[in-house]
Amino acid sequence: MRGTVGAFAVLVVLGCSESEPPTQIQSTGGSAGVGGSGAVGASGAVGGGSGSGGVAGSSGGIGGSGASAAGGVGAFGGYGGSITWDGPQTLSETGLFSDIATRTLASDVRQYGVRNQLWTDAASKTRYFKLPTGTQIDTTVMDAWKFPVGATAWKDFESGGKLLETRMVAKLSDNPPEWSYVAYRWRDDGSDADAVPYGEADTQGTTHDIPNIPACKECHGGTREYFLGFSAVQLPQSDIDQLAAAGSLTSPPMAPFVIPGDAKAQAALGYLHGNCAHCHSAAHPLAMYNNFRAGLSVTNTDVAATALYQTGLNVSTSHDIDGTVMIIVPGQPDQSQLYNRVNRRDLLAMPPLGTEQVDVSSVALLKAWIEGL
Ligand code: HEC
Ligand code: HEC
Repeated sequence: MRGTVGAFAVLVVLGCSESEPPTQIQSTGGSAGVGGSGAVGASGAVGGGSGSGGVAGSSGGIGGSGASAAGGVGAFGGYGGSITWDGPQTLSETGLFSDIATRTLASDVRQYGVRNQLWTDAASKTRYFKLPTGTQIDTTVMDAWKFPVGATAWKDFESGGKLLETRMVAKLSDNPPEWSYVAYRWRDDGSDADAVPYGEADTQGTTHDIPNIPACKECHGGTREYFLGFSAVQLPQSDIDQLAAAGSLTSPPMAPFVIPGDAKAQAALGYLHGNCAHCHSAAHPLAMYNNFRAGLSVTNTDVAATALYQTGLNVSTSHDIDGTVMIIVPGQPDQSQLYNRVNRRDLLAMPPLGTEQVDVSSVALLKAWIEGL
């Protein structure tokens, strides 16, 4: 494991250094006072879990009064302190299965897929979705579907042939939109899975970490108005067709979405949408101090018009990391901070959460794409 949440707190602080130095980062775990190095160190020494803190302990790292002090980044600061979960304590109570012993799905739950996978150290995932009877998804804003109260998604994580955890996200209320997030850890005998609001590092003898609730919100808590992968860009056409046929969309997309560009650009745009856009989007609190956007829109028909090309190519970064000062330098992966940061797994790595191993084949693909730009 790695103190991923603590690491993220450090990154948040680095991101905030432009506006105002943090006053304090709380950490109930981890070794406090991780100094920066080189150019990054210029932003000052910061506290927070450095990896020795457990998952539970590192939750304090996000409760950065420092993050809030930078102004406008309060959403990051709000997740510290105690973690509570008053929803279903076992997976069998969540409505996913009609019979958990035989893993029979409830009749109103269906499996779905995503087009651009999120890398989680090669864990394999299966996804399920439920809409309350008689409700629809409001697709007026095609890039940000609005879901009815009660919409629920689950995602299984399997590694080495073993089912480790099932995560659940559910919409609790409208105005203001409230969502709940929690992971269920499977029992050794497979009979059920139990809610683990504090997460669990190195679960069940693997290197897989189950995130705690604050970590869910780091990636999911943008506008709190949508699911990350249940969208017009991410759903395979077969799933969109089924939803449309069932009358579940207020107005289905007019045409299938095709990622623009040649094969290399399509692969890079898809990968960066699936792995980076949940934080690098206008909806996420990060947008208040960082302009890099990695997401695709259904309106994108030309690579040059994508947010990635517009905010990434020849754009300066906030920090010099190993001599890289631009997000993407066409033709030069080694000068491109994007390539530098996906190709490492220390505190400067991107993404900063959810992975401990470099996604070697995808990083090679990003390199080839930058070389060809
Ligand atoms: C590193 C970022 C990250 C973290 C941390 C994270 N998620 Fe996600 N999650 C994603 C992304 C990206 C998707 C969409 C792609 C997919 O389905 O794999 C997703 C999808 C899901 C889905 C399917 C519905 C949807 O939103 O598309 C569920 C359910 C889910 N996550 C639950 C959780 C819960 C619960 C936690 C915390 C215990 C959590 N996630 C932590 C990034 C994250
Ligand atoms: C969990 C949220 C999260 C995810 C997911 C994420 N990032 Fe970041 N990213 C951040 C934060 C916070 C910063 C600002 C702090 C820093 O520079 O380290 C940042 C900064 C960056 C920067 C520097 C931008 C600048 O202007 O200085 C780049 C480049 C970057 N990320 C690339 C990526 C790529 C590529 C991915 C996906 C492979 C990714 N990020 C996924 C949170 C995230």
